[in-house]
Amino acid sequence: MARFTRRALLGGGVAALGAAGLGAVGGGTAVASRIPEPIGARTVEIHGAHQAGIDTSAQSFASFVALDLADGIDRDGLVGIMRVWAEDARRLTTGMPALGDTEPELAVDPARLTVTVGYGPAVFDAAGLTDLRPAWLKPLPAFPIDRLEERWSGGDLLLQVCADDPVTVSHAVRTLTRSVRSLATVRWIQRGFRRAAGTRPDGTTMRNLMGQVDGTVNPVPHSPDFDRQVWNPGDPPWMAGGTSLVLRRIRMELDTWDELDRPARELAVGRRLSNGAPLTGSEEYDDADFEATDRFGIPVIPPESHVARARPRTGDEQFLRRGYNYDDQDGVGLLFAAYQVDVERQFVPVQQRLAEHDALNPWITPIGSAVFLLPPGFGPDGYPGDVLLG
Ligand code: HEM
Repeated sequence: MARFTRRALLGGGVAALGAAGLGAVGGGTAVASRIPEPIGARTVEIHGAHQAGIDTSAQSFASFVALDLADGIDRDGLVGIMRVWAEDARRLTTGMPALGDTEPELAVDPARLTVTVGYGPAVFDAAGLTDLRPAWLKPLPAFPIDRLEERWSGGDLLLQVCADDPVTVSHAVRTLTRSVRSLATVRWIQRGFRRAAGTRPDGTTMRNLMGQVDGTVNPVPHSPDFDRQVWNPGDPPWMAGGTSLVLRRIRMELDTWDELDRPARELAVGRRLSNGAPLTGSEEYDDADFEATDRFGIPVIPPESHVARARPRTGDEQFLRRGYNYDDQDGVGLLFAAYQVDVERQFVPVQQRLAEHDALNPWITPIGSAVFLLPPGFGPDGYPGDVLLG
């Protein structure tokens, strides 16, 4: 009978009450030990061979922030920016206010915050290292489908800030941009979202705002495919463990998409709306059979469908997609984010093929585009790009 202590009873009561009942029973340690760790308390390690926020299971909220360097910023200035960002990020990702944080209370819930830093083409000129700029670090070629707007394109530096809480993201963005205000100014901010953490079981593939399951065919973190497609193997040596980001802001023309019935929508993509299965299968992860035909000899997955056009034709044409939905007064769409070792070798051929023909094209319009180099990860005394700039 000694087992039925007040502690045990209270704990069971809390479990039954759920979080909403906590206030009624107080918040002692015995109670707290029964409560699952709040989503806000979760952290992602910032140090390592790779920057966090790439092979991290996608958080619910993201802000992609492009900045332009102030005139006259040189290599020392860049190192200064990177050191400040690394120090701020070290603190914020562990739930500590940044130095001089004006709203320290907003820093207490890291909620799996990651801060991923990118270099635009101009960084190499500013650093006096133009010769070292990889050939792929430049704007993408112009595609016939593009309707690019300057306000969503380009940039000298990138901050990709992701967390499972939007206040955490907002606070981190403000802190990081304010810390370098005299050295770099914000060019654009693109905010994106997925389902809130806890809404769907972990590992559920996201849905985009057309309602499609989006992200099924993707390399799995820590697998040989992921390592080969995403992490630079050391060519050049200072990029070992780094990668690149192509960010495309793609507007969805939902008003006209709404005019399609479900079968037509599924034919445009080549997958089912219900669970993302290929039209030749029944489960999300079934292999698509692009050769299968119906009794009239017509391909079950139309050759002009999005997946038929996007699937790789060579081993090179593969990359990680880790996009976010957006909606604002200008419209609705996808912040399409692709990560790969080499933009020209892996990404451009696929985008080129889709631009030439893709059944989805009447309903998707690229309106922003930017390419960044994401330097390798760094250690407790380092910063993103220290192997290059240090
Ligand atoms: C697959 C939607 C833009 C490349 C898919 C799938 C959906 C989808 C629903 C099937 C599920 C999956 O495997 O993820 C969209 C939408 C887009 C868009 C709504 C624009 C708003 C792009 C762009 C590219 C791209 C710009 C690359 C340039 C791919 C690739 C696949 C894919 C490589 C996997 C193909 C396969 O091997 O089966 N997309 N996508 N998508 N998409 Fe997109």
